[in-house]
Amino acid sequence: MNSMQKDLSEILISRETIERRVHELGAQIAHDYAGQTPILVCILKGGMMFLADLMRAIAEPVEIDFMAISSYGSSMESSGVVRILMDLESNIEGRHVLIVEDIIDTGHTLSYIIENLSTRRPASLHICTLLDKPDRREVDISLDYVGFNIPNKFVIGYGLDYAEKYRNLPFVAVLKPEVYLQPSP
Ligand code: IMP
Ligand code: MG
Repeated sequence: MNSMQKDLSEILISRETIERRVHELGAQIAHDYAGQTPILVCILKGGMMFLADLMRAIAEPVEIDFMAISSYGSSMESSGVVRILMDLESNIEGRHVLIVEDIIDTGHTLSYIIENLSTRRPASLHICTLLDKPDRREVDISLDYVGFNIPNKFVIGYGLDYAEKYRNLPFVAVLKPEVYLQPSP
């Protein structure tokens, strides 16, 4: 057992299940955006692994761009107060934009991003998230592509972190509560 695996209580979504679902989403996106060359906007850092796999599953031209957001508050709760750490390189005016996120929890982060990107007058703005925790939603947002609905548990892996760790796990897992309840060294 490696040093990360001992911190996990269960594997929620296996590598194979993620791969299968990402291919379905890619096929659906290729179909919906055929002839439009959308810009896939990856929200860093959590969305990077999903973007890398998703874009390879889209058999139509796409462009990619990145945005980094910081939300104030603890590493497990989003406060709703959001700041742009790194902005897009592209001008999205008149373009079809698809936001690629790791997880929608309360919805505060995404709601800020939608509001911000909308002011730049994209031709369309849609959302693709790998994970959705609908029980936790505090802001009403309509999601266009959802990989998996998950229960209200703190998950890590496949891009998602706890205190910047575990992003490199190739599956989505639940962290043992004692890992985040213990004081940091
Ligand atoms: P929201 O603003 O509450 O929707 O939070 C969204 C952000 O919080 C995500 O982009 C993640 O960075 C982080 N987050 C929310 N839930 C989890 C989780 O279960 N594991 C890891 N990060 C999470
Ligand atoms: Mg995070």
